[in-house]
Amino acid sequence: MRRAVIIITLAAMTAGAAFWAGTTSTKMQTVSIEKADIVAGEQIYRDYCAACHGANLEGQENWRSSGADGKLPAPPHNEKGHTWHHSDQVLIDYTTLGGTALMAQKGIEFASGMPGFGDELSDTQIHDVLAFIKSTWPERIQKMQAERTKAEGE
Ligand code: HEC
Repeated sequence: MRRAVIIITLAAMTAGAAFWAGTTSTKMQTVSIEKADIVAGEQIYRDYCAACHGANLEGQENWRSSGADGKLPAPPHNEKGHTWHHSDQVLIDYTTLGGTALMAQKGIEFASGMPGFGDELSDTQIHDVLAFIKSTWPERIQKMQAERTKAEGE
């Protein structure tokens, strides 16, 4: 059962705009590397994200398979993971609400190991940390993710 839920969730996560439309706001938000404070973002990453996502954004071991508790380990945020497959809005929502609450908004029951940071971090801090993550990607990946963000905003 749990496995089925996870598979459905992953399929939905890659389905794009239709699935994510109407998450928290009607206007799509974006994360600008140029406008963000990347130095602050890196510090936030070290303080709040690195414990799970890795000091070098490498993620946890065997991140593709769920552990004994049925939850998925933290995926990498570098180009080997799938963070860059998501639009800026999805990344903001995922970080703000966490996996369980975001999926619950879609009517999907999902035990996620990703906590929500909306209470601990301000919107600006969430933008800064996501901008830091994006800034580490090669230009090719940055471009592909920008396309995804653009497609969802249309
Ligand atoms: C307690 C461990 C933990 C911490 C701390 C954590 N994460 Fe996560 N994160 C996860 C797990 C586990 C997932 C896998 C997805 C799931 O199961 O919902 C995840 C997934 C994500 C995703 C979705 C990636 C994708 O490819 O779908 C984003 C974005 C994300 N985390 C950002 C952050 C940011 C930014 C921080 C720091 C502010 C952070 N995470 C801190 C555990 C954590």
